[in-house]
Amino acid sequence: QVIHLADYRPTDFVVERVDLTFELDPTETLVIQRTLMHRREGVADDVPLVLDGDELNLKAVAIDGNPIPESQYDVSDRALVIRDLPTGTTFEVTVETIINPEANTKLMGLYRTNGTYCTQCEAEGFRRITYFMDRPDVLGVYTITIIGDGAANPVMLSNGNFLGAGDYGDGRRFAAWYDPHPKPSYLFALVAGDLGVVEDTFTTMSEREVALKIYVEHGKEARAAYAMDALKRSMTWDEQAFGREYDLDIFMIVAVSDFNMGAMENKGLNVFNDKYILADPETATDQDYANIEAIVAHEYFHNWTGNRITCRDWFQLCLKEGLTVYRDHEFSADQRSRAVKRIAEVRHLKSEQFAEDSGPLAHPVRPTQFREINNFYTTTVYEKGSEVTRMIATLLGRPMFRKGMDLYFERHDGGAVTIEDFVRCFEDASGRDLGQFSRWYHQAGTPVVTVSARYDAGAKTLTMDVEQMIPPTPGQQVKEPMHIPLAMGFILDNGTEVQPTGVSGGEYADGVLHLTERTQSITFEGISSRPVLSLNRGFSAPINLHYDMPVEDMVQIARHDSDLFSRWQAINQLALRDLLKAVKEMTAGATQVAVDAELIAILRDSISDDSLEPAFRAQIMALPSEADIAREIGKDIDPEMIHAARNAVMAAVTAPAGTVLADILDAPRRVGSFSPDAASAGIRALRNAALTWMSYCEPSPDRAAKAFAEADNMTELAHALSVLAHRFSETESAKQAVAAFGDRFAENALVLDKWFSIQATVPGPATLASVEALMQSPRFAAGNPNRLRSLIGSFAMANPTGFHRKDGAGYAFLANQIIAIDKRNPQVAARILTSMRSWRSLESTRAGLARNALVTIGAASPLSTDVRDLVDRMLEA
Ligand code: ARG
Ligand code: ZN
Repeated sequence: QVIHLADYRPTDFVVERVDLTFELDPTETLVIQRTLMHRREGVADDVPLVLDGDELNLKAVAIDGNPIPESQYDVSDRALVIRDLPTGTTFEVTVETIINPEANTKLMGLYRTNGTYCTQCEAEGFRRITYFMDRPDVLGVYTITIIGDGAANPVMLSNGNFLGAGDYGDGRRFAAWYDPHPKPSYLFALVAGDLGVVEDTFTTMSEREVALKIYVEHGKEARAAYAMDALKRSMTWDEQAFGREYDLDIFMIVAVSDFNMGAMENKGLNVFNDKYILADPETATDQDYANIEAIVAHEYFHNWTGNRITCRDWFQLCLKEGLTVYRDHEFSADQRSRAVKRIAEVRHLKSEQFAEDSGPLAHPVRPTQFREINNFYTTTVYEKGSEVTRMIATLLGRPMFRKGMDLYFERHDGGAVTIEDFVRCFEDASGRDLGQFSRWYHQAGTPVVTVSARYDAGAKTLTMDVEQMIPPTPGQQVKEPMHIPLAMGFILDNGTEVQPTGVSGGEYADGVLHLTERTQSITFEGISSRPVLSLNRGFSAPINLHYDMPVEDMVQIARHDSDLFSRWQAINQLALRDLLKAVKEMTAGATQVAVDAELIAILRDSISDDSLEPAFRAQIMALPSEADIAREIGKDIDPEMIHAARNAVMAAVTAPAGTVLADILDAPRRVGSFSPDAASAGIRALRNAALTWMSYCEPSPDRAAKAFAEADNMTELAHALSVLAHRFSETESAKQAVAAFGDRFAENALVLDKWFSIQATVPGPATLASVEALMQSPRFAAGNPNRLRSLIGSFAMANPTGFHRKDGAGYAFLANQIIAIDKRNPQVAARILTSMRSWRSLESTRAGLARNALVTIGAASPLSTDVRDLVDRMLEA
């Protein structure tokens, strides 16, 4: 049952109002739906009403308040079809269903988490609550009444504004909510239970006061303070950056401990995985703080990009996700260091999205078909979708981009629209044709751009020959050339930049070269001496750039580019060259590796350069990972060889930096209270990077053990633990630290997740056994998505030498786990299974064993459509 974009057509019936009453019960919740609707103009009178359903127990159906006989409808597990409806008028359909929240282990629809009722409806969870036209282009105004045991549920929440609450006098109480903004069913939410709350207020730009509330489990209130701060900053930023004001009297966030994803933007009632809300210095790392800030912002920004303007159908998912990721990236860049933020984004994009784009799961940002929509909440839709939005901003320039966004909000507010609608706003605002550019939405695969350049001293011209090639991807063998905005600059020997006085063969404006042809030759005039080309500055386009740059040029950029991102990129590229060379040489039998002296010097100089912000220096020190190297090699991957080669290169680059590292580590620690701000976090990041480097040039675990003993915050504590566990796993210090950490945080599940994932990513074949042992630990919980992801997910996704054991035991283990997890929770199983997406690039022995594991999963029965779809696509020739 493949769903095609081309088959889209509007519903036969139009929803006006939805009234929902919930009589809560852990195992038998009654849901009464009353929906006012009318037949769409032009739809024949005998066309029946078809409502989606999933695992529902139907009790009654009525039309305009009158129960209808069973002969008037058909009900199955997937649908309710009602015939002989009133014609030519608006009518009300009543549907009563019984659902079992306690038994809902898929965590889609209404379920229970630590005794709290909670919902997740995106993408197709609402049909697990009641029969409904459960698609994003059906917008209704909702009124919600929640009835339940008063003692167990002092908190009863839903979307919109609070209408009132009261007691029935028999132990039950009720609360009612009304959301005036028409919304699709995937944005519905209900939460009920006994929760603590943190409250604040926000005054909007038009002076309206909004109540802000974050609900957490009792006792965790203090850990929500940072999230509240991030929320207020997000609200201010959206007013300033995009002119977007909040539109209800109240904005609520609820943190729950069982959640399939990061968070959900339900109108006025965001529900979060508590890992992205709760933080304090003792238990959260700087990365946790940054994630909280970014995700709180992301969900808040959805209020306009997603909720006020939503998607016509799920093929348009990037309409809200790509755009909202772009907005949260810009927010974080404004709140923190823009360059460091961009480096982190590009690292993530390459390691996740480029990997997806080059394997069997590659798909366009705007796909045209799917079997299971949950499998399309991907890094391509999110992160590449964000990059495509960023490119529109680059092509048009900031002011014109903002004008296009303003037009989008004005033209489509209240609508359910498409990518074409979105792009047209930028065309209309700017007068620029984005037809060719739109191929970024439709063509999968990471473009390869090959550049060669020659300088003509006599003519003072620089000519660039550029070729673009988009690799074939599943279902797309042939591609058309794309419109690629390549930000670039010309750097002269003395470090200054020169602006060409004329350009032929292509458009070049505001430092951006527009590539539009398969092959293109561009000549820049008025270049006074041979320049160094700084290409794809700021990663203006998500491409693989092939430019055989002389090492001296790379060094020049690494040392002098005015664009900090480019400096990082050049250093990373230099390091990658040496890493790839080391893999090659060691594969051929070498035991020693040579590292370029220039690279060593640049690294040492950058690390000790106090004029560079510490967070940037930490990024410089994080050399390409084993996964980065594997992706670059692309085929016949031997993870053990890559591991050995990277270790050898690390030993070679860190040894000469010994004193610099000691200076960083021995610098007096800042006294005073902890602050999660970016500058303080940067100092911790630099210290952590230095500790990692030290582990390659000092054979003893003592420094890491000392750091572990002295750490007064989770960022340094968890890092010291991972250095001990990953670099000195056989030592007593490491074993003691692992035990001590586990005991100290035995009651804090979110910290235990770090403990699980650090142990699951210890390199080497022995880790499989420890993962299996940890699964038996009472600290593990096989029903909790965070535990599963931190233990099994980390092992499969982030432990190249452990998971890719040569005997295939890692793959066999994963197959068993996927089959087991799938029975409870298909979405979590499918997500962890994506760790197999690059199996085809492994060397043949491992590839064969990986394939066997996929075949084993494929043969299991029953299997969810989620897992079935992934296995089939990964095995397809
Ligand atoms: N819309 C949510 C967000 O990005 C994520 C929902 C994920 N849903 C899913 N079925 N995987 O903020
Ligand atoms: Zn989102």
